[in-house]
Amino acid sequence: MRKRPIVSAAAGALALLLSVPASAAPAGPGAAGIGDPYYPNAGNGGYDVSHYDIRLKYQPTTDELEGTTTILATATQDLTRFNLDFVLDVKEVLVNGRAAAFAGTGEHELVITPARVITKGSPITVVVRYADRPGEVERGGQSAWLRTPDGGVAANEPESAAWWYPSNDHPTDKATFDVSVQVPDGTQVISNGTSTQSSRAGWTRYTYRQSKPQATYLATLAIGRFDIRTDTTPGGLPVITAYSTDLGDNAGAARASVERTGELVDWLSGYFGAYPFGTVGGYVPNVPTGYALETQGQIFYSPAQFARGTNTSVVVHELAHQWYGDSVSVQRWSEIWLNEGFARYSQWLWSEHENEGTAQELADYVYNLYPADHAFWTVKPGDPGADQQFAGAVYDRGAVAVQALRNAVGEDAFFRILKGWPTERRYGNATIRDFQAYAERISGKPLSELMNTWLFTAAKPAAGSAGVVASSPAKSSPAPTATAVVPSEPRSWKKIQETNTVHDHKD
Ligand code: ARG
Ligand code: ZN
Repeated sequence: MRKRPIVSAAAGALALLLSVPASAAPAGPGAAGIGDPYYPNAGNGGYDVSHYDIRLKYQPTTDELEGTTTILATATQDLTRFNLDFVLDVKEVLVNGRAAAFAGTGEHELVITPARVITKGSPITVVVRYADRPGEVERGGQSAWLRTPDGGVAANEPESAAWWYPSNDHPTDKATFDVSVQVPDGTQVISNGTSTQSSRAGWTRYTYRQSKPQATYLATLAIGRFDIRTDTTPGGLPVITAYSTDLGDNAGAARASVERTGELVDWLSGYFGAYPFGTVGGYVPNVPTGYALETQGQIFYSPAQFARGTNTSVVVHELAHQWYGDSVSVQRWSEIWLNEGFARYSQWLWSEHENEGTAQELADYVYNLYPADHAFWTVKPGDPGADQQFAGAVYDRGAVAVQALRNAVGEDAFFRILKGWPTERRYGNATIRDFQAYAERISGKPLSELMNTWLFTAAKPAAGSAGVVASSPAKSSPAPTATAVVPSEPRSWKKIQETNTVHDHKD
């Protein structure tokens, strides 16, 4: 469901230059990457996926995963061969019903050569049969399959799909999903969307359906022993929550947080507009990881986030991503501020609502926390680089940028932008400059200077930049001591920082 190929302008210019209509271009291989500057091999060129049908069988005791993924796509060029992003061991590939040659590259690529050249615009049905132990498959010394004592979990960003299904693994190619997994009776399966189940001869099949466009990294799979609860919000939205039966001391705090999902999604709808998907929920598997992930309509949390007690703030963060990240997704990974800046800002709104510090106080606190020579200010939230994609500055400086916008355009325009943008771009992709143009249109104010200062400059903005962040203590601060120039820590601060314990803080 790709709408705007990243390289379209360049390709168009090239076609013009050569005076050759694109359709007359000679058939060739699809590119091994979709053109993302941070991840050259992410996604693939030459086709556009509309649907994934993923049918698997998993044995938790041995980590054996086997099955078939069927991909429905359309060729965007004449294709002699094309790639999928996949790391597991492939047994057989069919393209439009005919056996196709295939080879792994040792990286993340599965190269497929169909028996016949595929012509531009024609439908492609790819069937990939595979079997492997995903926990043992490493790339760059890492596996994105999180093995647990009772199963495994696929949830990571920017990549985890390749450890359980072949795909065009980039947020610009969204698709609908059917995921159906057979597991031994007594084991449960979590994935995205609505679900049904049936049991036969010792095996239970769980079938999930995501009928709204979904980016590949937002598809999740968890297998293990879970307590699954289903409910509906007062507005009728199905809520599915699930907890590993093995959460130990974290179980109470995890439930007391994630069970607030229905209430919090309604609260966020007041800021962001109608919830974009057909189901909402969250699951907490028994994994040691420190991050959560906004997997679409079924959020992944780690027990670590609840180790210091209830954390509704992280639930707000991941729910905010359903609008900012999942429905409106990045056009390339450098645009990550569109996700994390707003998800973090939603936690500041929650803090304000809970009387634990206003967004302005949190912005002032971040501004004063790091001196000008601190590495924090060397990260440009608008283009942090692949290795700093999830650095603390993308979140915290990113949220200060949102507060700067609020102060610059005023309350009325700000909240119209916050709610209007997810509607304007629903189920699509966007860049930061697209957002800027939208905010300028709604507010009637030029915003280049503000955006450049807060998002695209590798230095601490001057105090009061764009008339925004106060450089003196907030009014609610206690009486300053002789040396105190920093506002006191907002009560929500530590909890907010627990959202993501894998930040690369360069302290
Ligand atoms: N989008 C996730 C969040 O903010 C962050 C995931 C970070 N993942 C990672 N492997 N560093 O909640
Ligand atoms: Zn986030």
